[in-house]
Amino acid sequence: MPKTFYVTTPIYYVNDVPHIGHAYTTIAADCLARHHRALGEDVRFLTGTDEHGQKIDKAAHVQGLEPIQLADRVVERFRALWRRFGMSNDDFIRTTEPRHMRMVQLLFERVRAQGDIYLGSYEGLYCTGCEEYYTETQVPDGLCPYHKKPLERMLEKSYFFRMSKYQQPLLEHIAAHPEFIQPEIRRNEIVSFVREGLRDLSVSRTSFRWGIPVPGDPAHVIYVWFDALSNYISALGWDGSPGGGEPFQRYWPAVHLIGKDILRFHAVYWPTFLLSAGLPLPRQVFAHGFWTVGGEKMSKSLRNVVEPNALLDAYGADAVRYFLLRDVPFGLDGDFSHQAITGRLNAELANDLGNLLRRAVTMCEKYTDGLVPPSGAPGGLEQTLVETALRAAQESAAHLEALAFHKALGSIWELVRSANRYIDEAGPWTLHKNGERERLHTVVYHMLEALRFTGVLNGPFMPGAARGILEQLGLGSGDEALRRERVAAWGGLPAGTRVRKGAPLFPRIEPERAAEIAARFQPGGDPMSDDKPRSDTPAQPAAPAAAPALAPPAAPAPAAPAPAAPAPGGPGTTGPVFLSIEDFRKVDLRVGMVRSAERVPKSDKLLKLMVDLGEAEPRQVVAGIGKAYAPESLVGKRIMVVANLKPAKLMGLESRAMVLAAGPGGEHVVIAEFHGELPPGESVH
Ligand code: ME8
Ligand code: MG
Repeated sequence: MPKTFYVTTPIYYVNDVPHIGHAYTTIAADCLARHHRALGEDVRFLTGTDEHGQKIDKAAHVQGLEPIQLADRVVERFRALWRRFGMSNDDFIRTTEPRHMRMVQLLFERVRAQGDIYLGSYEGLYCTGCEEYYTETQVPDGLCPYHKKPLERMLEKSYFFRMSKYQQPLLEHIAAHPEFIQPEIRRNEIVSFVREGLRDLSVSRTSFRWGIPVPGDPAHVIYVWFDALSNYISALGWDGSPGGGEPFQRYWPAVHLIGKDILRFHAVYWPTFLLSAGLPLPRQVFAHGFWTVGGEKMSKSLRNVVEPNALLDAYGADAVRYFLLRDVPFGLDGDFSHQAITGRLNAELANDLGNLLRRAVTMCEKYTDGLVPPSGAPGGLEQTLVETALRAAQESAAHLEALAFHKALGSIWELVRSANRYIDEAGPWTLHKNGERERLHTVVYHMLEALRFTGVLNGPFMPGAARGILEQLGLGSGDEALRRERVAAWGGLPAGTRVRKGAPLFPRIEPERAAEIAARFQPGGDPMSDDKPRSDTPAQPAAPAAAPALAPPAAPAPAAPAPAAPAPGGPGTTGPVFLSIEDFRKVDLRVGMVRSAERVPKSDKLLKLMVDLGEAEPRQVVAGIGKAYAPESLVGKRIMVVANLKPAKLMGLESRAMVLAAGPGGEHVVIAEFHGELPPGESVH
């Protein structure tokens, strides 16, 4: 029976699209999974999405969607992105799948059967307007931040998990298994947290419905973290039987890779649930650091989220994978910059590795007719190279075992550089000129074999480049050639193999192109407009994705110069269009108060609004938002309006301004709205 290895990523929330942070954890897990497969182990690599809970519920409703519709949409973004990155996950779990929901209830029942669940009540400051609890620190004045009304002190019934009971057992487990929580600093944090005392945990909610019902008491849904953490065993088909069933029995326990933001859930909550259920604890919980951009936390509002698809367009999957794992020790925080990625791509990938491949294959074609020559009698130079190669193989494996990805790559690059140096020192061109055939054969053989080592060793990090190297060496593109045992000893490249020159692995990024890429990622050069209609793109009546709420849809272009629509070729292909602040100010954006709203007869889409823009008379505005909003729901709202758009006629009605909105169309349109006390006509800037 081969050894088994089970590695997981967090299951990501579907309230937002994937960003580079999500890609980071998933790339690390993929690298580990590939490494263990190359070792010949029986590997299971799991990722997926976290789809229940209030956060998703709310995000969906804000967009006018049912939560499952939002989830169905966003999950495709994750899947597509993982395909582009070449992720080799064996499964992808969604918490809305029946296989998961059934099992969560089973686990809940198991924990309850242990006497570890009891009904209690949950106390907090509640706003019925929001249907939400607030903590004292969130609302120092005791007023709801949105409704400005006093909050009620409320008691909600809730099931509790006796987490307190597991304080000691958890501390003992941590003490006995130093590898359980990593890195060390995170382990210490958890130990001090648990020593402070564990309180029982509320594991159900009654204030919303979007979750898995508590078995036997469907007024409650199971707390989203109990639900989410269980994915790690539901995906293995844990069935509650004594062995847990297959493949649980085979693969559990797991190595959980996570970010440090969710350490407590994985290193405290999850293990105590498992202790209660009598199941083995995870083999390891490794919490990595956080990526920032220009020293700032990534956030939508700062518009500095590094969009992974745009990154792939700019640099390719292998280079992004390499950079993220090479640049920062796993466990520490890192700062993303285009300069850093371009620097490494040019120096380490294009130059060091790309040149090694090109030189070795070119010389083989030129000096030995494209056939791998016999190795002959190695000398001192060869001996050094062979030692370096074997050391790189051994050390990179040891570093990967410790999840020190950057060190593993460091060891591999010792070999890459040393192979380039070897070629310089051995001087095959001179040997060729002098007709020293045998020595020339030895040198060509050794450079090709060193190259093969770099191909195999890079396999887990850069699967595309690794295959490229082995293919050019004539070893095919199968996984067999990437097995770790192929670099257990020197000399695995058979003489007589036909070498084939191919395309360069990593074209250099010249300064011009680097500047162009950097500009694309600037706020304003936002490449994230791929499938999200933006309110600044002119309406395209034929395309259902065009912003439909722009009213009137057939209106002439806005008074201000319109930014170019994205080219059909995809995001970023036309490059950004920058407006000067003067240009932007030509757009008269104002707060409009909706005084009245009614349906336009014979249209299910159009509404006729009377909007107060702080002028003598309200203006008549016709907007295509009738499928998303009931007219009466709009009255009294403060909305965002373009006040200086040329008037246009729609179904015979004049529209004298434009309502701003976003969303794919039809019933899925959300208007831009203000929640503060702003007078009608206030300018937006
Ligand atoms: O927390 N740098 O999902 P989530 C590095 N659904 N990694 C980052 C990052 C950054 N700036 N931002 C996010 C959840 N990550 C829960 C998990 S698991 C049972 C449930 C990565 O979508 C990192 O792995 O908020 C982090 O832990 C995770 O994304 C959070 O993803
Ligand atoms: Mg998060």
